[in-house]
Amino acid sequence: MLQPNTVYLNGQFISNDRASISPDDRGFYFADGIYEVVKFYKNNPFCFDEHITRLGNNLREVKIGFNHLDKLADVCRALININQLTAQYAGVYIQITRGVAPRTHRFPSETVKPTIYARAFSMPPYLKEMKEGVLVISREDIRWLKCNVKSIGLLANTLLFEDVAAEGAFECLFIRNGFVTEASHSNIMAVKENTVYTHPDSNLVLPGITKAAVINICRKNKIPVIEEPIAASAIYDFDEWFVTGTGSEITPVIQINGRSIGKGKPGSITRILQSEFFKITYESLANDFSLSF
Ligand code: PDD
Repeated sequence: MLQPNTVYLNGQFISNDRASISPDDRGFYFADGIYEVVKFYKNNPFCFDEHITRLGNNLREVKIGFNHLDKLADVCRALININQLTAQYAGVYIQITRGVAPRTHRFPSETVKPTIYARAFSMPPYLKEMKEGVLVISREDIRWLKCNVKSIGLLANTLLFEDVAAEGAFECLFIRNGFVTEASHSNIMAVKENTVYTHPDSNLVLPGITKAAVINICRKNKIPVIEEPIAASAIYDFDEWFVTGTGSEITPVIQINGRSIGKGKPGSITRILQSEFFKITYESLANDFSLSF
């Protein structure tokens, strides 16, 4: 019988302890693969179609021929059910690599099947952080120039994040050529005079699903949005900063590099966006949250 700790690997649901992957998998040798993380709010996936569309775009971008995207909704639901996560906030991680082939820089023939792996896990909200706000520290963005691809090659992200997390930061803010791009596992947005600013979608940032949802919320609530890069030298000219992501959701940033943002507390536009976001995602958090401010 299938038990919690069940994962999906190449068409089968099996115990994670029994899941094994060849060392010749190109994901292992070359980080030759892409991934997605979808959040389920008590059995309701958030923006599932958008995640699958991005996965499809990424597969095309890196030339991996995987033709079963239409099966992934059932796979994710099954993982949530089998792992008894229907009543929780849960995530599903999906990874597709180019498959198993002897190590050579050339891509293997098209007969090599991609490796697909997915697992579900509990993903509770960062309640304290979302209420009180967090610190971030900046580093030079040393990643490759295809940051729009959700590549499993995340060493630059993890190295930089590890560095700042050791100093108590919730996120690492990336600066490339003097401009803010995004963060190590979130997009980032700022507010000045009630207008929201963020980096436009380009090869320098991941086109975040949460970022797009926040932009929609802004439009619906007549909050102007300007998608343009912010100069690192202008960081402290902004009244509010917040990060967005499937894990980070909408988390206020109250300090960057040791200097307070605005009044050193989550700002009012961030609060409106959080409350509107929670109305779509959490059953009750929108109210609980606004009561506690
Ligand atoms: N991270 N930018 C980067 C570099 C990210 O890794 C992520 C997500 C985001 C936010 O994207 P979205 O709103 O679509 O989750 C932006 C995932 C959750 C992770 O690596 O676990």
